[in-house]
Formats: sequence, C-alpha cells, structure tokens
Amino acid sequence: MKKALKVVVTAGPTREFIDPVRFLSNPSTGKMGFALARAAAAAGHAVALVAGPVALKTPKGVRRIDVVSARDMLAAVEREVAAGADVLIATAAVADWRPKRRAAQKLKKGEMDGTLALVRNPDILKTVTGVRKIGFAAETRNVLREAVRKCREKDLELIVANDVTEKGCGFGTDTNRATLVRRDGTVTRLPLLTKLALARRILREI
Ligand code: PMT
Repeated sequence: MKKALKVVVTAGPTREFIDPVRFLSNPSTGKMGFALARAAAAAGHAVALVAGPVALKTPKGVRRIDVVSARDMLAAVEREVAAGADVLIATAAVADWRPKRRAAQKLKKGEMDGTLALVRNPDILKTVTGVRKIGFAAETRNVLREAVRKCREKDLELIVANDVTEKGCGFGTDTNRATLVRRDGTVTRLPLLTKLALARRILREI
C-alpha cells in the first residue's frame, strides 16, 4: 500500500484591498486547486486546502482554511508546513503586488489622483522550505521557458504549466491542458483533460 501523505494545496485568487470596498485580484475560481484537493483526499492523503475567496464547496474529507490576502495565505501555508506537511501544491493565483496603503474608510473620488502605489507581496512558494514543492505556471507566452525558470527559481520538484490564453484552459474552465516540467528537465505535454483528471495525473507524479 502507498504511504498516505500530508498534502497542502493552495487555491483561488488572493485579494489585496485598497480600501474597504475595492481590491486588486484576478479571475481564479479555485477549480484547479479544489480538484487537486478532492483527488488527493480520495487517494487517501490528509489534505489541507488553503483557499482564497472562492464560491466552491469544500471537497469531502478535506480540511479547509480560508484566507484573503497573499500575506494571509503565506501565514496559513507556513503554519501547515511547520505542523509537518509532506507536499505543497500551489495552484493559487497569488497577487504579486498589493497597495502600499490600505485606507481605513472608502476613498472618495476627490481623494484619489489616478495613481496607486504598490509594494511586492512575498512569493509563497519561494519563501516556504522544508517541504516537497509543486507549482503551477500561468503563462500567456513563452510557456515552457517561463515554467523552467520558475521551477528553478522556486526550487520546485515539478511545475505544471498552462497557457491561460488557450481555449478550455486556465481560469474558470472545467478543463485544462498542461505541460509538466520536472526538476530534472524532463517534460510531458498532456492533452486537454478535465481539471479532476489533470489533478489525478499530477498526483501520480508525487
Ligand atoms: O482557479 P482556476 O479558475 O481553476 O484557474 C486555475 C489557474 C489558472 C489559477 C491555475 O491553473 C494556475 O495556473 N495557477 C497558478 C497561477 C499563478 O499565479 O501562476 P504564476 O506563474 O504567477 O506563479 C507561479 C507559481 O508561484 C504558482 O504556483 C503560484 O501559486 C506561486 N506564487 C506566485 C506568486 C506569489 N506571490 N506566490 C506564489 O506562491
């Protein structure tokens, strides 16, 4: 029998608030991450799902931790890894930037001058160590080259690259076409699959 692993999955977008009613974010729905969590739990692994704001039901047998911002997500992932996770699978579309200041009250039009100062968010995958790491790469060009670079820079075992401009792929779809890029440089191009089938295929790599 295969060993059950403690798997942490990140899913969905993060929100970076400008004021109480406005934020920076992206179109991630969490479908890819929730499919991975569902497939991992069904395979007998202990799954912690760190989810940004999404409208999906928690898969059976999965422990879910809801977060909002990139910094919240990093803190939650760090807690899970410190508690003894084996594998981190990062499907979340984490905002790379956040507003330098979050206004306590809704900003009036007259209080805004058309510019928004931003600061970099931490890179969760890069920051976290002491766990096997699998990343995703959402690309619109040079898919393979960017995936190889991210795999190396973030010290990943595997990166799942998807071209988010392709029909049926990326944000919000029920299907995805991915290319697996491993640390050793080997590449596997997969056909268009449902996100659940892709999740099961990724888990086979682990
Ligand atoms: O949620 P869905 O609607 O199903 O859409 C699925 C998806 C398009 C979001 C998913 O397939 C996908 O590609 N996820 C990765 C999105 C992304 O942010 O990619 P990236 O190339 O910018 O980041 C590379 C990796 O670093 C990712 O694993 C990301 O989670 C991680 N990252 C990025 C930035 C950051 N500050 N911290 C991170 O950990």
